[in-house]
Amino acid sequence: MIKVNMGGCSSFVKDAEYKKYLSKALEAYDVLESETGAGNDFLGWKHLPTATPASLIDECEAIRDEWKAKGVNLVVVIGIGGSYLGAKCAIEALSHSFAKQLSSAKDAMEIVFAGQNLSEEYICELMDLVKERNAAAVVISKSGTTTEPAVAFRIIRNYLEEKYGKGEAASRIVAVTDARRGALKSLSTQEGYRTFVIEDNVGGRFSVLTPVGLLPIALAGFDVRSMMKGAAEMEEECAKRSENNPAVVYAAMRNLLYDAGKKIEILVSYNPKLQYLGEWWKQLYGETEGKDGKGIFPASVNFTTDLHSMGQYIQDGERILMETVVSVNDSNRSMEIVNDPQNLDGLNFLSGKPVEHCNAMAELGTKLAHIDGGVPQMSVTIERINEYNLGGLFYFFEKACGISAYILGVNPFNQPGVEAYKKNMFALLGKPGYEAQAEELKKRL
Ligand code: PA5
Repeated sequence: MIKVNMGGCSSFVKDAEYKKYLSKALEAYDVLESETGAGNDFLGWKHLPTATPASLIDECEAIRDEWKAKGVNLVVVIGIGGSYLGAKCAIEALSHSFAKQLSSAKDAMEIVFAGQNLSEEYICELMDLVKERNAAAVVISKSGTTTEPAVAFRIIRNYLEEKYGKGEAASRIVAVTDARRGALKSLSTQEGYRTFVIEDNVGGRFSVLTPVGLLPIALAGFDVRSMMKGAAEMEEECAKRSENNPAVVYAAMRNLLYDAGKKIEILVSYNPKLQYLGEWWKQLYGETEGKDGKGIFPASVNFTTDLHSMGQYIQDGERILMETVVSVNDSNRSMEIVNDPQNLDGLNFLSGKPVEHCNAMAELGTKLAHIDGGVPQMSVTIERINEYNLGGLFYFFEKACGISAYILGVNPFNQPGVEAYKKNMFALLGKPGYEAQAEELKKRL
């Protein structure tokens, strides 16, 4: 279970002020729970952990077993934004850091990602790998019209059809998309791809607990049932109308700090496996809150690595920062620091101590240093990195995000700002219908 602790903010915040923001957070909670706020047609994510049928997970696992049985050893998962980051986050967090190099993992079904950028070099190099392997693909796009995944899918589909023939290629492609609309839906119907549905009432960045995240995570061999169990327990915990509801507490404090001038929130982790939790969280909060000229800017760092790059700024730069540390109590592996009879590096005071003890002391020392330096610290603690706790983290951050955006006074569930670059890109690429905009843009270049 997740524990939220605001002790690292106490020297920055007066009790009365915090009480005021807790009341605002409870009002926002009411708006979210009564489904009366802006964007209330996008609240399907709230009950996914408890409402998702076990048969959906069975289906994901059946595809995994089928592909394994035909020797598939590489799955290309195609998607961008909310159709990419949740799966990437979970797979990075749960995988062995050196899975690709380990000989014991050589028979596993490896997951790689495509369609999350438009780099020609990336897709060429990805195809170098695909051509060496026995490959399958999962294409994920709610709208079915997003350019990045559509371009990657064209290339991969074409390759699979040339290599295996249309029928076999179709059995190696699964689409996750809207139930009715979009080019991907029509293509899947025409070609006979298996499809999973992203419901209309779940937006991309809130979709990790739908097949958007569950299918790739299950294909990677992880226990999505346990992930949904952890999420379900947080669904219950975060449904309580209480000043102790962790989502209410976190939403209240980050808004208080924002109004007090802390415009940037850094999500901090001390395990490199959680780097993509930061990426997923940045999209969730950035796309939800960054609108109407408002919103906390979400950033992320991975310590202790980034203490040697961003540490100086965080300690001593402009005082507009707050931190949220995702703390992990127990390491999944253990390794003691060995004794050195010569003690040339002077580290024998650490002999016999677990490496994680150093990491924990680095975390505590950094917390105190940053508080002394004017950076308030919120913490979100899990027992260890596993499917269950990741599920809990996903749900907790989603619920807190909805509450937080309502405190801020924005529609949490739209993303009008994402369209601006798309329109310019289409105009510059010569998409029919964008001729006038292309003329205007060309004058400015
Ligand atoms: O959160 C969102 O809505 C976006 O990040 C989308 O997930 C992203 O733009 C991809 O959209 P789609 O799934 O329609 O291809």
